[in-house]
Amino acid sequence: MTNSEAPSRVLHLTVNGEPLTLAVGPYESLNSVLRDRLNLTGTKRGCDTGGCGTCTVQVDGQAVYSCMYPSLRAEGKSVSTVEGLTTNGEPHPIQQALVDGGGVQCGYCTPGALMAALAVYAENPRAGADELAEELAGNLCRCTGYVKLVESLAAAGENLRGHHD
Ligand code: FES
Ligand code: FES
Repeated sequence: MTNSEAPSRVLHLTVNGEPLTLAVGPYESLNSVLRDRLNLTGTKRGCDTGGCGTCTVQVDGQAVYSCMYPSLRAEGKSVSTVEGLTTNGEPHPIQQALVDGGGVQCGYCTPGALMAALAVYAENPRAGADELAEELAGNLCRCTGYVKLVESLAAAGENLRGHHD
């Protein structure tokens, strides 16, 4: 019997502002809960072993690899995914910056990179390209678009500061 066939615990959490209660397997990852139970497939699954960062989401504002994060650890916590970034169908400024700056190629790494970058900006709204590149070192891009990705995320910083200042 697979883990997903044996839900046995009740999990209470908030996902993108919505309070949810659901049954999960005892060892089920947050990535599985988001993608397979809630159909929030914007959060990707790549290596599933903590090595690529494409599954990055935020839990209480901290960037985590959802494939390595036990879903039960999210009990009572607030999870944010890329689906929560848009407002009335309008892209978040950081999403727009990636489009404007050519920071997206196939897009597979993009949701994780966005969530990781937003966690960096939450800690340091004045983070620049060097800090972003360092903090996102675990977010691999198979299209090797690192330069434009980081430049686009850094360009978003000014917009974001406008939101916070
Ligand atoms: S899928 Fe989670 S780190 Fe690769
Ligand atoms: S844009 Fe394709 S993996 Fe990064």
